[in-house]
Amino acid sequence: MAKLNMNNEIKKVEKRLEQSIHSNDKVLEEAAFHLLSSGGKRVRPAFVILSSQFGKEEGVSEDTYKVAVALELIHMATLVHDDVIDKSDKRRGRLTISKKWDQTTAIITGNFLLALGLQHLSEIKDQRVHEILSESIVDVCRGELFQFQDQFNSEQTITNYLRRINRKTALLIQLATEVGAITSQSDKETIRKLKMIGHYIGMSFQIVDDILDFTSTEKKLGKPVGSDLMNGHITLPVLLEMRDNASFKDMIAHLDRDSNKEEFEKCIDIIRNSNNIQVSKDISEKYLNKALNLIDELDDNQARNLFKKLIKKMGSRNV
Ligand code: IPE
Ligand code: IPE
Ligand code: MG
Ligand code: MG
Repeated sequence: MAKLNMNNEIKKVEKRLEQSIHSNDKVLEEAAFHLLSSGGKRVRPAFVILSSQFGKEEGVSEDTYKVAVALELIHMATLVHDDVIDKSDKRRGRLTISKKWDQTTAIITGNFLLALGLQHLSEIKDQRVHEILSESIVDVCRGELFQFQDQFNSEQTITNYLRRINRKTALLIQLATEVGAITSQSDKETIRKLKMIGHYIGMSFQIVDDILDFTSTEKKLGKPVGSDLMNGHITLPVLLEMRDNASFKDMIAHLDRDSNKEEFEKCIDIIRNSNNIQVSKDISEKYLNKALNLIDELDDNQARNLFKKLIKKMGSRNV
């Protein structure tokens, strides 16, 4: 099998992404380009390509590239809409579209990116791809809705949280690995394993993101930190601390959109100094190890090693 060079593969995806956002409407094109050109780790396209390396097809097929590009576009659409919901002003180190243009432009740009993603997928003949994708995207929307409904809800459980992050984040990564495998005609068992690998990676990925909101800096992440709680998003470190610490739970129960900054900062400081950051890291690592163990069950090839390297790097990002 020809050697897979992931840098080259991602460059090819970049080129296609750039080509795909061209539009007659200059504002849409500029807003989409603003986000596209500001970086991003491109992990979803990487997972599509890596997952396509355990099937019958040699190299990387046209369908695989289409799915890789489409999933990054869909991911970007969710980021743009997420920033509108959270009233964020920074993304990938730059102003968000709402901040640089306005909220309406951001909402339309999000829809534009989603539609571009679907356009790419429409050329794929395998019906399974369409069924899995449309079903998952509906669930991603439900995840965002549940997050909205659970804002400032101090009675939610860790199970609620896990279900929510599965929908809002893990599903898209699971799509990347599952559909990546389908585009190279992998056998059923390989598709099933890759789907689970994506699920575990996605769960770990969102837990790490939720930890970084407490432990990292805006400079490193390119997006605001400490903002989850201020937006009412109760994440794993907070849920664990509430379980251990009744007076903290009481503080969280009294928070709402109108609480002052000092009240939020008091809670954020408690989390930053709490052992539950480490407990959250351990939980995230458990998911990552499940993914690594399953990867070991795949065919032993070069892609398998690259796959492992990438997810180990993701697991240790800034934590
Ligand atoms: C951010 O995703 C949203 C989450 C699901 C945590 P990424 O961390 O992959 O964002 P980019 O694409 O690299 O900016
Ligand atoms: C993002 O989760 C999930 C999406 C579907 C966009 P977050 O809300 O934690 O993502 P960031 O931290 O804003 O990137
Ligand atoms: Mg957000
Ligand atoms: Mg986050």
